[in-house]
Amino acid sequence: MAKSLHIQSLSKRYGKATALDGIQLDVRKGEFISLLGPSGCGKSTLLRIIAGLDDPSSGSVLMDGVDVTSSSPASRNIGMVFQSYALFPNMSVLKNIEFALKPRKLSSQIRKEKAARMLETVGLSDFADRMPHQLSGGQQQRVALARALVVEPDFLLLDEPLSALDANVRYQLQREIRRIHDKFGMTTIMVTHDQDEALTMADRIAVMTKGQIVQFDTPQKIYRYPADSFVASFIGTSNQILSGGKMKVIRPEHFTVADIGEGIEVKVESIHFKGAFYRLTVRVLDRTSPSFNEKWAVDLQASLVEEKHVRIGELLNLLINEGNLIPVKEVVTR
Ligand SMILES: Nc1ncnc2c1ncn2[C@@H]1O[C@H](COP(=O)(O)OP(=O)(O)OP(=O)(O)O)[C@@H](O)[C@H]1O
Ligand SMILES: [Mg+2]
Repeated sequence: MAKSLHIQSLSKRYGKATALDGIQLDVRKGEFISLLGPSGCGKSTLLRIIAGLDDPSSGSVLMDGVDVTSSSPASRNIGMVFQSYALFPNMSVLKNIEFALKPRKLSSQIRKEKAARMLETVGLSDFADRMPHQLSGGQQQRVALARALVVEPDFLLLDEPLSALDANVRYQLQREIRRIHDKFGMTTIMVTHDQDEALTMADRIAVMTKGQIVQFDTPQKIYRYPADSFVASFIGTSNQILSGGKMKVIRPEHFTVADIGEGIEVKVESIHFKGAFYRLTVRVLDRTSPSFNEKWAVDLQASLVEEKHVRIGELLNLLINEGNLIPVKEVVTR
């Protein structure tokens, strides 16, 4: 029901353009990983090559140690869900799911039973006889998910399946997909360009840019120890600071307010309420600081901001604990 995946020195070129450039990726059996990166970095290309829908220019794809680089998509036992719902418009919900089982030699009774069971898993038992156009976007995507899962795939590949849905439905389906993954245990690879989605759903995240994987690690490690300044700025909000001649990063939640005369003097330029905290944009006024005149994003506890009546235009003194400074390799904007 689940296999490991090894991708070795994989590259994909379209004419002179390089979509993937020497990808190395090892995914464990049953792991949930996310491919995260800006538009055009090669996420879909990588997913399509794993599915067998596209050939690499060089390199190989191994499933449980078996080289499948030139195997057909059908032989790879993969379930796939795309951004667009891609259901057959002229088939009922149940028929859409059953259809995925057509190539298997099963009686129509068994096919129907399997499809109905999968429909129950995605919470749509009452919708079996509806046509796709009678469903909401979120419901259609649940059907697409059921159709991908009914074949009991070794791999579930998801290409931004939630990006067309509004926030609430998206959060709900994020939890559902993770629950289904944990229940069936198939190895899952989900493409997203939404960092929150990757952080909350994945066991490990592969951060991609320009056809390369720049970091592959747990959400916690990627947030706390970004490999370079690109990762630091792409995952979460970060402030870059020159400290002891080295580029370091500090997260907005790691500033504390100091007494007047201490720390670094800044001027508040904007304040946004975020519930438990306020996000401030501040300008560094301290001329002795290497960050003089730079802007920082600073998160302060709501109660503190309200007690101190912090307003736009006011001055604050901020302390930086050395322990919260993360050294990063500096890269020119990728
Ligand atoms: N069939 C193709 N022919 C030529 N170039 C292509 C083709 N498919 C993809 N590319 C190029 O390869 C690069 C990677 O594309 P890909 O679709 O993998 O990006 P992505 O990370 O999925 O982006 P997005 O987040 O916008 O979906 C892009 O520069 C794209 O223009
Ligand atoms: Mg894509």
